[in-house]
Parts: sequence; structure tokens; C-alpha cells
Amino acid sequence: MKFSLKYCTSINQNLLPIPGLLLAPYIETLKTVAEMGDYSVPESSINLPTDEVIKEAVEKLIEEKVTDSLRYVFLIGIGGSNLGTKAIYDALPLDTYNGKILVCIDTVNERTLNEVQVIISELESPDELLIISVSKSGGTTETIANTEIVLAMAIEKWGDEVTNRLVVITDEGSTFHQAASSKNISVLTMPPAIGGRYSVFTAVGLFPLAVLGVSITDLLDGAQTMRTACLNTDILSNPAAQSALVAYQSYHHGQIVHDTFVFTPELESLGKWYRQLLGESLGKTVNGGGDTARVGFVPTVSVGSTDLHSVGQLYLGGPARTLTTFVYASTESHVQTTPTKRTFESLTPMVTGKTTSEIMTAILNGTKAAYNNQSLPFMEIILEDITSFELGAFMQFKMMEMMYLGRLFGVDAFNQPAVELYKVETKKLLEGT
Ligand code: PA5
Repeated sequence: MKFSLKYCTSINQNLLPIPGLLLAPYIETLKTVAEMGDYSVPESSINLPTDEVIKEAVEKLIEEKVTDSLRYVFLIGIGGSNLGTKAIYDALPLDTYNGKILVCIDTVNERTLNEVQVIISELESPDELLIISVSKSGGTTETIANTEIVLAMAIEKWGDEVTNRLVVITDEGSTFHQAASSKNISVLTMPPAIGGRYSVFTAVGLFPLAVLGVSITDLLDGAQTMRTACLNTDILSNPAAQSALVAYQSYHHGQIVHDTFVFTPELESLGKWYRQLLGESLGKTVNGGGDTARVGFVPTVSVGSTDLHSVGQLYLGGPARTLTTFVYASTESHVQTTPTKRTFESLTPMVTGKTTSEIMTAILNGTKAAYNNQSLPFMEIILEDITSFELGAFMQFKMMEMMYLGRLFGVDAFNQPAVELYKVETKKLLEGT
């Protein structure tokens, strides 16, 4: 994975080392966290890529639950409990999964649940199905309601024994942990100090991904390689610190929107994973000198080139309030080519004989040129290919960038007190009905 500021003329890289001094003590703190190797602080998620205990627990349960006939994996969870898994699942090539299909059940939706019911009705054996219910707190309304509904469907068909096709992933010692264990349901735990949106390298992401056939070893290796780079005290060799500094400076120049503009459509869910990370980590109310202020980027995701035809006008001609990060894979695939003998040869003749890669590279470079012409700031992240290793590196990069951003903005990048506001009100309403 390569982080680059090279082509954006409106970002002055020479300035980065100066505000970078603000981060120097925090880089040292993260290095100490890495040396400790435990899970005593929220930043400890950086220790997950080398945690053999978590990986072994995941692999042991895989041996027990993954049958040759497994076809469907129902992942019940929301926010930090499913976005990382979905991001990787949607990004990797379909042949990774050897025919296995992931069904994400997050919000409470009649249509999704009806589809789940149809799938269950068509299965011949419970071994064709694995239900994974993920809730760090064990108290999220949507996840618990969906778990009960889906489990009831499976029990109606196969009886109570089918609970051996359920795996619960939750905080060590949570009420969900206790309730599942008391019914002999398999449980994998996550370290309590690790927040949901930083949990993709715990069992939360590793177990469902390994069930589906993703190489979690490669994923973690990518993350570990990136961790080393993002602990570098030389700011210009530390991609997470550089990216955080560019974002921080842009915010103070009025760019309050951060758009992750993926030019490989398979990466849209990865953009949405980052949207949660950025939204929940920085969107806070801060106190300073007796005053309070609301801070945070509005995180958005755009897909190239599709969204150039929906929001391109706004980005290039509307308010200059957006910092963009282009994300794409540099894979050279030349399988599909515009034919030289064409049906409509007089229309856009310049595409004749061009590969898809040549056309998309021209659109991407054309977009960057237009951004430069309008003095719109952007960064670039280039994945060498869409592999588990590269995706692991990207996610580690972004989680560490968020830690640096939290420090620069003076906010706690690990809590989400405002998310609780709707959860509490929802529970009150449901209790009253
Ligand atoms: O990142 C977070 O902390 C949140 O998005 C949570 O993941 C989300 O609210 C779901 O919570 P839980 O995993 O406790 O069910």
C-alpha cells in the first residue's frame, strides 16, 4: 500500500514536519503501547496483528464449525461489529470464498429477514449454515432482536440443537457472554478495551472472515507491516501521521468534509468502514476555556467514476469544503478491451482498442487534474492489488491515522457517547410498548 501526496499541488508537504512535532510525544506513547503488548488501553488495538492467542482461538473454532457443506454465513451485528468484515468481503475476489455467501443482517429489516427465511427453508442441513452474532456490549437492540428472530427461524426448522450452529462474539465477561455460555453456545471474546470500530483484527473480523476462506494470516501480516511504518518518528516516513496532519490542516482551512473517493468499486464498503471510523472517532463536543465546540469531519464515500456523474459537479464547482482521499488498486487487468471493430465507431473514437484499465486510469488522472485546476486538496492511497495483505495494511493505516487525528483535535477518538443517546431513547420507547 502506498500513501501519496505527490500529485496534489494544493498540499504543501514542506509544512508537515512543523505541526508534526505535536505528534512526536504521542508516537512515543504508541511505541510504549506496542512494547507492552497487552490490552490495557484503547490504543492497544495496534497489538492485535501479532496476537497468536486470538488467532489460535479463531482457528480452533473454525475446525469445529466449518463443514464441507457450509454455504451461508449469517453475520448479525451492526456498526463496528460488521463493517470491517463486510468491507473485506466485498473487496476481495469472489473466488476467495469457494461458493460461500455472507449475508449481513444489521438493521431490523423485514425484506432482509424474509430473504433469510427463504434461505433457511431451502437448506437441507443445518451444517450448510453458520450464524455469527456479534455485539461488543451485548445490548444493541438491532443485533439482539435479529439474533432472536433468525435463531427462531432455524429452531423452528431443526429444533433447539441448531444453537450449535451459532457463534457469539462479545466482550469477555459481558452479559451476552454469560447468557450464551449458560446455554452451551460457542463464544469468542474480544478485549474490553478495544472499541467496536477498532476491532476488525479481533475475533469480530477474524472469525467470520476465516470462516469464509479469507487468509487472516495475510490480513494480519499487512496490518503488522503497516504498524511498523506508522510508528516511525520521522513524520515524512510515517503515512498515518502525514495523512492525519494533512487532514488536520485542511480542516482548519475550511475543508470540513472528508470524502473517500474509491476508484475501484469493490472498495465502496471499505470506504464505509472508514466513514464510521472517522465519524464516530472525531465527531465530538470539546471543552476549552469554559466554552464548548462541536468538531469533526463529515465523512462521505464516493465511487469513481459513477459518482462523478452525480456529485462531480458539486465537488468541482460547488463549495470548496471537501478534502478528498482517492483510493484505488493499481492492478493491471487487461481482460476486457473495447474492440477495434466497433458497432458505433464514430462515437468517442479514442476508446477504440483501450483496456478497461487504460480507460479508468485516464478518468482518474483526468479527475485529479481537474481537482488540481480547482485547487482542491487530495491525498492518494494506492493498493498494489486487492488482497488480504493490502486490505490489512489499509485498515491499520486508517486506525492509526485516527489515533493521530484524535490527538491533534484534542478529542477521545475511542468513545462514542452520542451513539448511546439514541440507544437509550429507543429502549425507553420499546419498554413502554
Ligand atoms: O464502533 C462502535 O462502537 C459502534 O458502532 C458499535 O460497534 C455499534 O453501536 C454496535 O455495538 P455493539 O457491538 O455493542 O452491538
